[in-house]
Amino acid sequence: MLLTIKMLDLLQVLSIISFLVLLKSDAQVMLEVPSLMKCKFDKIYQLGDSLSDTGNFIRESFLGAFSPFAKLPYGQHFPQNKSTGRCSDGFLMIDFIALECGLPLLNPYKDQNGNFTHGANFAVVGATALPAEIMIDKNINPNSLITNSSLNVQLDWMFTHFKSTCSTDCSKYLKNALFLVGEIGGNEYNYGLLQGKTLEELRAMVPEVVQIIINAVKTVIGFGAVRIVVPGNFPIGCIPNLLTIFFTNNSTAYDEYHCLKDLNNLALFYNHHLQKAIQELEKEYPNITLIYGDYYNAYLWLLQNATSLGFDKYCLRKACCGIGGEYNYDKSRICGAPGVPICGNPATYINWDGVHLTQAAYKLLAIWLIDDMLPKLKCPI
Ligand SMILES: *[C@@H]1O[C@H](CO)[C@@H](O)[C@H](O)[C@H]1NC(C)=O
Ligand SMILES: *[C@@H]1O[C@H](CO)[C@@H](O)[C@H](O)[C@H]1NC(C)=O
Ligand SMILES: *[C@@H]1O[C@H](CO)[C@@H](O)[C@H](O)[C@H]1NC(C)=O
Ligand SMILES: *[C@@H]1O[C@H](CO)[C@@H](O)[C@H](O)[C@H]1NC(C)=O
Ligand SMILES: *[C@@H]1O[C@H](CO)[C@@H](O)[C@H](O)[C@H]1NC(C)=O
Ligand SMILES: *[C@@H]1O[C@H](CO)[C@@H](O)[C@H](O)[C@H]1NC(C)=O
Ligand SMILES: *[C@@H]1O[C@H](CO)[C@@H](O)[C@H](O)[C@H]1NC(C)=O
Repeated sequence: MLLTIKMLDLLQVLSIISFLVLLKSDAQVMLEVPSLMKCKFDKIYQLGDSLSDTGNFIRESFLGAFSPFAKLPYGQHFPQNKSTGRCSDGFLMIDFIALECGLPLLNPYKDQNGNFTHGANFAVVGATALPAEIMIDKNINPNSLITNSSLNVQLDWMFTHFKSTCSTDCSKYLKNALFLVGEIGGNEYNYGLLQGKTLEELRAMVPEVVQIIINAVKTVIGFGAVRIVVPGNFPIGCIPNLLTIFFTNNSTAYDEYHCLKDLNNLALFYNHHLQKAIQELEKEYPNITLIYGDYYNAYLWLLQNATSLGFDKYCLRKACCGIGGEYNYDKSRICGAPGVPICGNPATYINWDGVHLTQAAYKLLAIWLIDDMLPKLKCPI
């Protein structure tokens, strides 16, 4: 194979190496670059929402089964051009993380034929950190909640799963497992913003959302988890659906990347509280490795270096699959609806459908995150 490397950017090389790893079905390739392989994880467990659902939503309800995520163009770059319920054109960050660990892709818990030898994925599209009843108490329209499988429900599934797989000695069974608690908690703000809640109301929810995530971390520690990643939120002011809804002529509302400052500040505020809470928890559990997954700065890095990473500078805030307006997004004509076009080359777009990201973006974010987390995981050299 002839690879023409136009620009010898280390990151491009890294992504080519990762790409080659993906081509090897056994993934037993030793990388020259920092990799999670040396951590010797033997299982991965994921809780979360659409950023990491690998097929639970499309299996849990009719709503999911008939959602756009169950059909092409979702999954058009997944092996065999197959829609799996992943909200992207191909792989998600969790897929790249699993491959970098030398493990198979995580099966969704709701898959009756799933093989859970190397872990399980409990994430569900649309899930919130707060229980659905609490969202409804906060005047979120019950019909807008596309799933009730919030964090507490996912933890119940996890409990049931461990009861049947390691009831007698889960600490030993999970000694080399990696847990990802999130990203979760972002949908609270999505539902809230779409239903006209003010930024003040949403800020007021932050302590409660953070607390429920911290409680979930304590629950997984109780199950036997010893290495846990807790991701924060993306800069949501850069996401096409919110950019469309909150479009304004007032140029001072936008930052240097043409993202909405107020929304990014909300995400920063939330992330700051989450990080503080994680630091407190570290004191309480000195023997547990707790790592904040810095999605926000990973995304900023992607934006800052977008052109050298292969993205089209005119499409950084446009959906690849979508139509209409400044951001290629119209909520009445979303990706997967009849006649909605798909961009020629999704690898040059960060955003896939107006809400979720492309495989190309997820791959680079995963590489950045792994690089950031690796020293903190203190894996043997
Ligand atoms: C994937 O399959 C669909 C339908 O079978 C087809 O139209 C499309 O061209 C295929 N895409 C790729 C990238 O192979
Ligand atoms: C599940 O996966 C493991 C490891 O990848 C393999 O050894 C085992 O045979 C698989 N089990 C089934 C029932 O396919
Ligand atoms: C969530 O639970 C409520 C009450 O049990 C039910 O009416 C609703 O249909 C559920 N929603 C979904 C999407 O399953
Ligand atoms: C923005 O300005 C244009 C013309 O300058 C006007 O037509 C439009 O209504 C304005 N939009 C908003 C959201 O203020
Ligand atoms: C524009 O937005 C800024 C801050 O976002 C605000 O202070 C200012 O009053 C706004 N100007 C107009 C004309 O609405
Ligand atoms: C942490 O580990 C050390 C050494 O294995 C042990 O002595 C100590 O009791 C543990 N502390 C806690 C809080 O579990
Ligand atoms: C990414 O962007 C930052 C800020 O512009 C810059 O300092 C850094 O060198 C860039 N990294 C790469 C790999 O281009």
